[in-house]
Amino acid sequence: MRAAVRKKYCTPDDLELQEIEKPDVTDDGVLVRVRAASVNRADWYGMTGTPYFARTMTGVLTPKSELFGTDFAGTVEAVGKDVRDFRPGDEVFGARTGAFAEYVNVCDAVVPKPANVSFEEAAALSVAALTALQGLRDKGQLQPGQKVLVNGASGGVGTFAVQIGKALGAEVTAVCRTRNVEQARSIGSDHVVDYTREDFTRRDERYDVLFDVAGSRSW
Ligand SMILES: NC(=O)c1ccc[n+]([C@@H]2O[C@H](COP(=O)([O-])OP(=O)(O)OC[C@H]3O[C@@H](n4cnc5c(N)ncnc54)[C@H](OP(=O)(O)O)[C@@H]3O)[C@@H](O)[C@H]2O)c1
Repeated sequence: MRAAVRKKYCTPDDLELQEIEKPDVTDDGVLVRVRAASVNRADWYGMTGTPYFARTMTGVLTPKSELFGTDFAGTVEAVGKDVRDFRPGDEVFGARTGAFAEYVNVCDAVVPKPANVSFEEAAALSVAALTALQGLRDKGQLQPGQKVLVNGASGGVGTFAVQIGKALGAEVTAVCRTRNVEQARSIGSDHVVDYTREDFTRRDERYDVLFDVAGSRSW
């Protein structure tokens, strides 16, 4: 199969498309033919090896795996003997190191893809949307009727945070720069603060949850 490969930390120009062995399906695994994959910051960290602390996960001097990419969507090609939840032909999405390849063998981080969601849309979901879900629902314990402010509402995690905040029944205030104000409104934000014009910490408004995706302000 073809896969995007890097043997050392590099820039996008140094990535290579190589023929490598197709992964075997493990007993507890699902072999997925990748139809779409998305790029997020985690892939950038894994490709460049920066920031350096990220190397504690990806490998100190050289990458632990020459494969990279994480978020994918595709079609199940084969399942391991212990797998009951999936069958060949199922459309799925999930996250697995090595997603910038034609096939991935994935064990637990895979779920069925809703029929009304395209492969491209599903491939953009996993890590960023889960981060937003964990932040608002699990850590923030956001409740219907509460007020949440999302600082960094126009990027990978923030756009999901706005939509998940609305889906949880909260009143959502989005913080982003001028060119993203309309986008923040279009995905459901009740209020939008343009941080190039206004400092949200100086407003009288108070919030039940502050979700700081941008990390641009002190706690
Ligand atoms: N993406 C993931 O899957 C993921 C998963 C786990 C953790 N994270 C972490 O979450 C953080 C954000 O990741 P991301 O993928 O969402 O990044 P991103 O797509 O680059 O988005 C960054 C966001 O920060 C905003 N921003 C930049 N400067 C700002 C400022 N001075 N004040 C307020 N907002 C500002 C940007 O808004 P404007 O463009 O409108 O300026 C944008 O909404 C990173 O630390 C990343 O490591 C990401």
